[in-house]
Amino acid sequence: MKIIHLTDTHFGYTGQKIYQRSPIPALEEAVKSINKEHSDAEMMVITGDLAHAGHPEAYQNLKSTLEKLTIPYHLVIGNHDDRPTISELFNDFEMDQDGFAQKVINTEKGLFILLDTVIEGTHAGYYCDKRFAWLEEQLIKANNAPVYIFMHHAPFDTGIPAMDVISLDKSQGRRLGELFDKYGNVKHLFFGHYHRPIAGQWRGIAFSTLRGMNHQVRLDLHREDMIQGCFEEPQYCVVLMEEDRTLIHYHDYMHQSEHFNIGSPVEAHI
Ligand SMILES: [Fe+2]
Repeated sequence: MKIIHLTDTHFGYTGQKIYQRSPIPALEEAVKSINKEHSDAEMMVITGDLAHAGHPEAYQNLKSTLEKLTIPYHLVIGNHDDRPTISELFNDFEMDQDGFAQKVINTEKGLFILLDTVIEGTHAGYYCDKRFAWLEEQLIKANNAPVYIFMHHAPFDTGIPAMDVISLDKSQGRRLGELFDKYGNVKHLFFGHYHRPIAGQWRGIAFSTLRGMNHQVRLDLHREDMIQGCFEEPQYCVVLMEEDRTLIHYHDYMHQSEHFNIGSPVEAHI
């Protein structure tokens, strides 16, 4: 099964520039690229920061850009988003019984669980008791089936100090890890927020995140007082979920260097 992971679209109201650039063309190009190369994907998941400042027109702009996508898509909420505005506009944006934007998608490879790690008034992530209760209920219902988690904030430090200040609350991150340990069926964690390609494993669970659509975070492993930005190219991930493995292909789809033949893989060449 193939899926697309894309994140941090940071849309604005019509004409609004985010850090001196319009976020729309990068997503338009991503949609064209996915339609052309990956129309066989089951779905795309966007892991949050759909809008830059939660403006209603930003979500309208996002919706009309995504209307051109030929595969289904699902949305995760990020710290720049506004829950009520998204739920008013997007039919598939479900809320749990407590009003959090969390849902479960059944797939042939197991359950995709989309988490809501947002709390008003801070860019850091938060996961309250009610959300923990909902998640544990889903893990029990999963009955040991493979689970894939999609969320905006990482539940651990990434080594970029200025971003780690606004990761998921540290004690809640540990609690989330203990919950995943208890059920032992979480296979992969997909998240957004960091605007950088980062992959690895946490407590034995594989994870990956990627660049955003508009602006990126520079690789700075020292500075804590200010998040450093840059304009590296946007990317999306093509996720191949096979019987015995999950593969993450990072695609810098706007990269424009020359394409050429390196040589036949079966004939000797220099
Ligand atoms: Fe973001």
